[in-house]
Amino acid sequence: MRERVLSLLIQRLGRSVSGEELASLLGVSRTAVWKQVRALRRLGVEIEVDRHGYRLLRMPDLLMESEIRARLSTRRFGRRLHLHQRVASTNDLAKELARSGEEEGSVVVAEEQTHGRGRVGRSWLSPRGGLWFSLILRPRMAPQEAPRITLIFGAAVAKTLRRLYHVDAGIKWPNDVLIREKKVCGILTEVEAELDVLTFLVAGVGINANNSTQGFPEEIREGATSLREELGRSVDRNELLAELLNEFERSYEVFLKSGRGSLLIDWQDLCSTIGRRVRILTPRETIEGEAVGIDEEGALMVRTPTGEKRRVLYGECIHLR
Ligand code: BTN
Repeated sequence: MRERVLSLLIQRLGRSVSGEELASLLGVSRTAVWKQVRALRRLGVEIEVDRHGYRLLRMPDLLMESEIRARLSTRRFGRRLHLHQRVASTNDLAKELARSGEEEGSVVVAEEQTHGRGRVGRSWLSPRGGLWFSLILRPRMAPQEAPRITLIFGAAVAKTLRRLYHVDAGIKWPNDVLIREKKVCGILTEVEAELDVLTFLVAGVGINANNSTQGFPEEIREGATSLREELGRSVDRNELLAELLNEFERSYEVFLKSGRGSLLIDWQDLCSTIGRRVRILTPRETIEGEAVGIDEEGALMVRTPTGEKRRVLYGECIHLR
């Protein structure tokens, strides 16, 4: 209902609509309209109220189901959308939904996360203005294959950012998306499996979109950026989410159909890690050397100073100068 009020005001952006007209278009009372307007104003939507009615002053930066759907060209991804103002973590909610049978392609998205989670048990700051969402997938594959899905989604994010905003987005292995060597997006993939088969996979994507990174703690701030900071303007997060889901579905279908190797070609092109000197921190050791490629499983190949070639499937990667 709140979204329907907002949609009508958006259609008349800058012009007044009377409470009576809104009420009759929506089939509710004028008091009900007023309640929704109040709720919208509390969310920061600038609506002027005068004797002629209500007037939306600016296009609000809010996630809206109708705006997302209008740009979605997928068959399944995002067709079921769970949109929230504030959750602990969209990944946690998506996992709960998946456990109770939620179908492949469902998406959980939130304006804000209070306990956003990052890789290796880190927390992930998720203030309003960013894009925080999780996608539920049920691919028939072994759990060990899951990292490849994360790789293709990393590539899909980089591609989409390049196409929509003409930024020089690249991937840092395994799936951070960077602009000018600063992290703009991270992906956390979590799986549940029975014996050797995946029951479901949740791909959680966090993009610093219209949020500022200035309030982030210093150690994170230095290596982070947001789209707004890079572009000097806000982006349309509804469009961004829809375009990401369009690209994700395309890449996922190609991946399932035409064999696992195909997408890695794309990936190598977008990856700024290949050819770099890197330090990889794994739970067991630290490996330094030159990143020379990735293999079909998404493992990074590193040539160490002694000439030895190491294959690293998991780990944290640092680009060295
Ligand atoms: C990383 O450490 O780089 C991964 C960050 C992933 C953050 C996203 S935001 C949406 C989803 N929900 C979470 O709690 N985490 C992921």
